[in-house]
Amino acid sequence: MAVERTLAILKPDCVRKNLIGEVIAHIQKAGFKIIAMKKTRLTNETAGGFYAVHKGRPFYDSLVEFMSSGACVPLALEKENAVADFRTLIGATDPKEAAPGTIRALYADNKGENIVHGSDSYENGKIEINFFFSSQELIQNE
Ligand code: RTP
Ligand code: MG
Repeated sequence: MAVERTLAILKPDCVRKNLIGEVIAHIQKAGFKIIAMKKTRLTNETAGGFYAVHKGRPFYDSLVEFMSSGACVPLALEKENAVADFRTLIGATDPKEAAPGTIRALYADNKGENIVHGSDSYENGKIEINFFFSSQELIQNE
């Protein structure tokens, strides 16, 4: 399997609940290398751009409002099979449907406020990493 990259975002609910460290511990224990990380805050416009693929969906406005409601922590992650493995680690979108032990099952309150984002494909992973980070900010561990 090829080493690939994916984008994670610790969402505003994760930051508000002081779960940044705990969620990053899960990510590192699962074998992901952090190659970039920052704390930032999306505006309505940048959150709308990031989730533009969902424009027109019934949950789009509340998603944009939630994602811009406070600080978030994007991380660029690297691992073999990173995209699929990270989706497995975080669990289903709705925490009620997420497998036991997954990050969303453990920490998320509901489908809208679900702690963490993960890229859904290799191509989107690249686009999403470039959305938050410049190439100079992507630093491989030694
Ligand atoms: P994400 O993109 O954040 O990793 O989540 P996902 O792939 O598991 O789910 P996706 O379908 O891409 O939806 C993006 C985010 O929109 C919110 N959502 N709310 N209330 C609802 O029915 C609903 N559906 C989606 C969630 O925050 C979801 O993570
Ligand atoms: Mg998605």
